[in-house]
Amino acid sequence: MKRILAAAAILLFGLTSAGAFTIAPGRDCQSLGGQWNYIVDPMNTGIYKYQMQLQKPSKRYFADRHFYGDKTTLIEYDFDHAPTLTVPGDWNTQSDKLYYYEGSIWYRRTVDFRPVEGRRWFLYFGAVNYQCMVGVNNNILGTHKGGFTPFWFEVTDVLQEGENSLVVWVNNTRGESEVPTVNFDWWNYGGITRDVFLVSVPKVFISDYRISFDGKQIDIKVSLDGGNCPVTVEIPELGIRKKACTGRDGEVCFKVKASPERWCPENPKLYDIVVSTADDSIRDRVGFRTIRVDGEQILLNDKPVFLKGVAVHDETIGLNPGRCRNQEDARALLEAAKDLGCNFLRLAHYPHSEEMVRLAEEMGFMLWEEIPCYWNIDWSSEETYANAENQLVEMIGRDANRAATIIWSVANETPRTPQRLEFLGKLIAKARALDPTRLISAALQKDKPDFYHPIIEDELVDLTDIISFNQYIGWYDGKPADCDNITWTVPSGKPVLISEFGGGALYGNHGSDSELFTEEYLALLYRKNLEMIGRIPALNGLCPWCLKDFRSPKRPLNGIQDDFNRKGLIDEQGRRKQAFFVMKDYYSSLSGELVVGTFNLRFLDDYRPDYDYKFGGQPWMVRRPAVKAFFEQNNIDIIGLQEVRRAQAADLEEDFGKDWFVYCPGRLSGGEMVRTSDEAVGLMFRKSRFNLLGHGRFWLSDSTEVAGSKRLGQSSPIVTSWVHLEEKYRPGKDVWFFSAHISWSVSENPSLPDQEVETLLAEMERLTGIGRNEFKSSATPVFLVGDLNNTVDESPIQTLEGYFNDARTASPESASTNINTFNCYGKESKASIIDYIFFGAGSAKEYIVDTSSYDPEVKFISDHYPVLSRIYYD
Ligand code: GCU
Repeated sequence: MKRILAAAAILLFGLTSAGAFTIAPGRDCQSLGGQWNYIVDPMNTGIYKYQMQLQKPSKRYFADRHFYGDKTTLIEYDFDHAPTLTVPGDWNTQSDKLYYYEGSIWYRRTVDFRPVEGRRWFLYFGAVNYQCMVGVNNNILGTHKGGFTPFWFEVTDVLQEGENSLVVWVNNTRGESEVPTVNFDWWNYGGITRDVFLVSVPKVFISDYRISFDGKQIDIKVSLDGGNCPVTVEIPELGIRKKACTGRDGEVCFKVKASPERWCPENPKLYDIVVSTADDSIRDRVGFRTIRVDGEQILLNDKPVFLKGVAVHDETIGLNPGRCRNQEDARALLEAAKDLGCNFLRLAHYPHSEEMVRLAEEMGFMLWEEIPCYWNIDWSSEETYANAENQLVEMIGRDANRAATIIWSVANETPRTPQRLEFLGKLIAKARALDPTRLISAALQKDKPDFYHPIIEDELVDLTDIISFNQYIGWYDGKPADCDNITWTVPSGKPVLISEFGGGALYGNHGSDSELFTEEYLALLYRKNLEMIGRIPALNGLCPWCLKDFRSPKRPLNGIQDDFNRKGLIDEQGRRKQAFFVMKDYYSSLSGELVVGTFNLRFLDDYRPDYDYKFGGQPWMVRRPAVKAFFEQNNIDIIGLQEVRRAQAADLEEDFGKDWFVYCPGRLSGGEMVRTSDEAVGLMFRKSRFNLLGHGRFWLSDSTEVAGSKRLGQSSPIVTSWVHLEEKYRPGKDVWFFSAHISWSVSENPSLPDQEVETLLAEMERLTGIGRNEFKSSATPVFLVGDLNNTVDESPIQTLEGYFNDARTASPESASTNINTFNCYGKESKASIIDYIFFGAGSAKEYIVDTSSYDPEVKFISDHYPVLSRIYYD
């Protein structure tokens, strides 16, 4: 290999790939995909003479000469008579003869060209595996190494009017000092595996733009090539339009305060952006989000996020899988991951195509992207380091504007040597310098002083933002049952992500769950691993290895593997294995959508044949069937009611099963508070990643009204039961949740309200152990919800508001329309209190129900009261 690159250095006319070059949508790009003629050249005869001297320019295959022209000149190749390969595509799956082929292949296609005054032309390659040399009309433009990242060459001065000959020498020979090195567990697909474009730009063109968002401000840096001029950036939907001129360095930066809708898996919002000059413009679609770690928690848009991942190779689904060639191939993989319930993908072990990354972004997948410093590369070679760093630079250069990409990874399962630590340390520093906005990681391995107490003690942990490691308990290590007795020790203080786990199974191979490669074995392995992984502290996500069975020359077991690594949850044809459904159930147990309807409804004190409920203190009344109908028509998961009496709990169970809760206790018929829907509250918290430390419900009212009813602090029995419940579920964020019903009749005792507020606050301090002045800043959120304001005097509320963030209550005016709303001391509207409980700001949306088709009574309910919170949790 070295010899060929040395040759290239001699052959080159000083033409190398331009600095930065973006082919963002909107560029004038002509795809050169299609049928290319090819010549297999295992001896590199197209470059070397018999004694390995370099061929003369006229003799090398870049010359693209034709024997069949006059058959009198000895030319022992002729692309016109050579077979073709499809570009983009790997060569291995296009011809049985090339299935195992590793070596050199020449690609040639002709390009028709019409010059246009004042324009420049570039050849842009999405990726060529592994290294290549590119020539146009026998002018060698340059070389590239690294099979998974884009590169380009300016061809303005070498293109001629009419037919042009584009010849590419491609070689995928593995090498000790290459990246990846000689040994890796995927098929070494060779070829021009991603699309090729002829791109036309003006003399001065936009070579690159970089956009980032820190939660408050959008930063846009635009780079020009060929000169300086005014640049305009526009994000129409945000009303952003900025214009400025580039400086001497051909760059200009824009800083704009903005609060765009955040990109996230549930809402992968993208905005159109246009970057333009007088002669040039590019359009793109970008998302805005923040990603960071806070102690042991990964925060997406300042909210805890759990990475429901799967690892995937860049390989199609089908009878004859090969490298993905287009959006359709990528979509098939993404659809399978969506079906699995994922919100995160580990694109292993090398940068995947730009189509894959952009489509994943549109579909709401967060991404881990990595470069193939895989297993044991040549850590002490400068050339190897330069190669690895270049692949990192090109990967980040291509995808730095993608909101979906949240993690850059620099290595997979590498040995703990000082050379490796230094090598990867430099790469990590480079990645941080290129892009300080994303998390940096590497897939580590465990150490096992003893089998049942594996430990992660890799020094690289100090350099990465998250702790990611691969483990194969139940496959390479022990049996699935061993998971029950394994305790992991992982350094604390950083979020943990299991970047690989799993085992193999041949689709349709059934048998006992102790027989390797049966679907039953793999399903058991997954169940056991998920339980074990659930016990790992600071767990923020996991990535089964892997989505699909993929080709690997390391997997020859005939009859079962047949050149496929069988660790997919689907096989190469996309057929779901049993383990797929184990994983899908696990993820769906972590995610879902919850619609909570809070109604100021209370059961009538006395039985009325035609009505069951009334609204707050109002004369409006409805029957149970109507409320039930509204519940069903809006797919409400949980209903919150104001007051019920014990006797009515049965009716609620009948109508709503366990999915109801009361945000203040029953009072009218006196006696003990009804057994309200603790399960419901528990259900809500269980389904969320919040850990309910305690739930208190307070009945505070003037003494006259509820003789005998218990007043403050009715929560203690509940606290204990919650803690027990929570331990059963995945550890998550701790919260305190209090609901209260306060209504003052100032007329009787003007000072009562303040006393009551004081009593309430004191009780909350007692239960939580948190001072009221720390409620706002407490790491363990303290929430107070309830019906608090159906009086004319606001002061008690203001007092309470003082202790909570963003407290908001329905204004007194609301009383005038007598709406006794679900006041919340949390976020904007009552809906958001639930949202705030579950996810912090923003993901719950109050939405207006289209009631036109409802029968009158249901319409009455919908038109007047309901506040529905559509809550996504993951
Ligand atoms: C490793 C490696 C993967 C490989 C897998 C396996 O952990 O990272 O690339 O395919 O194990 O053995 O199947």
